[in-house]
Amino acid sequence: MKHFLDIHQTSPHDLRAMIDQAHAMKTARNGRPKGTPDDDQPLAGRMVALIFEKPSTRTRVSFDVGVRQMGGQTMVLSGKEMQLGHGETIADTARVLSRYVDLIMIRTFEEATLHEMAEHATVPVINGLTNRTHPCQIMADVMTYEEHRGPIAGRKVVWSGDGNNVCASFLHAAGQFGFDFTFTGPEPLDPEHIWLDFARGKGVQAVIERDPVKAVQGADLVVTDTWVSMHDPESAKERRHNQLRGYQVTETLMAQAKPDALFMHCLPAHRNDEVTSAVMDGPHSVVFDEAENRLHAQKAVMRWCLGV
Ligand code: CP
Ligand code: NVA
Repeated sequence: MKHFLDIHQTSPHDLRAMIDQAHAMKTARNGRPKGTPDDDQPLAGRMVALIFEKPSTRTRVSFDVGVRQMGGQTMVLSGKEMQLGHGETIADTARVLSRYVDLIMIRTFEEATLHEMAEHATVPVINGLTNRTHPCQIMADVMTYEEHRGPIAGRKVVWSGDGNNVCASFLHAAGQFGFDFTFTGPEPLDPEHIWLDFARGKGVQAVIERDPVKAVQGADLVVTDTWVSMHDPESAKERRHNQLRGYQVTETLMAQAKPDALFMHCLPAHRNDEVTSAVMDGPHSVVFDEAENRLHAQKAVMRWCLGV
């Protein structure tokens, strides 16, 4: 059973194969209308359940379109409307869904929910974001970096802001794809130290630099994300804004990076909080390529899970 639960739990060999396939599938679709099927139909006759316990625009649409392009069918399910949201166990839900569908993608709160789903499902399970990680996003980000600038191995990636779920998956990718990672943000919002240690254990630099100007010097890629994630309490908002104001990605900050540095954000962005509109819409930004590449990268992830 090949679940796609996290980047640090997937081998570098398989991650590389997925990224390479994603590039090839994107090239093969070059210029074709979005609704047309791929030449290959590896998901023909397959049904995919897409479960959302949190809001989503990109994950929902990109998975749905990706399955259809590959000849499969989808059902998009809201956790609240399932018995899952009314006391049925995750294990029983996993057992039942496995009798109907060939693949399950779930966006949820607790990582334990994802793991319980994977433990009891007899079909592959894909992590569509938990409070702790967001691996599909980072597959798209690695793909996006490489389509613009070539191999990401050996590059310097700087994360400015909250050391959240997306940041965690970036640290996993640093270890698995072999790039250096600098986190800049306030100490209470540091990424989990076990993830820094994971990356270091793979032989790359994973460091914390409190000064954003120093952190960004020599960066090949600057990344940020919302200051308040979906699982954070609304009451955290004001404190977060005070803690993170100095870590906004501005044109002045980007000027510290290499001249050809890229800027990424998983979206949705809060323009003029974590990033200015000038950077979002400026020459370094590849945020909409990143969003598009969710589609291509996840198609490769689904093929890997199903072995097709
Ligand atoms: N980046 C991302 O996962 O976006 P959605 O929340 O819209 O799916
Ligand atoms: N860190 C954000 C990512 C959204 C795609 C969140 O979890 O809300």
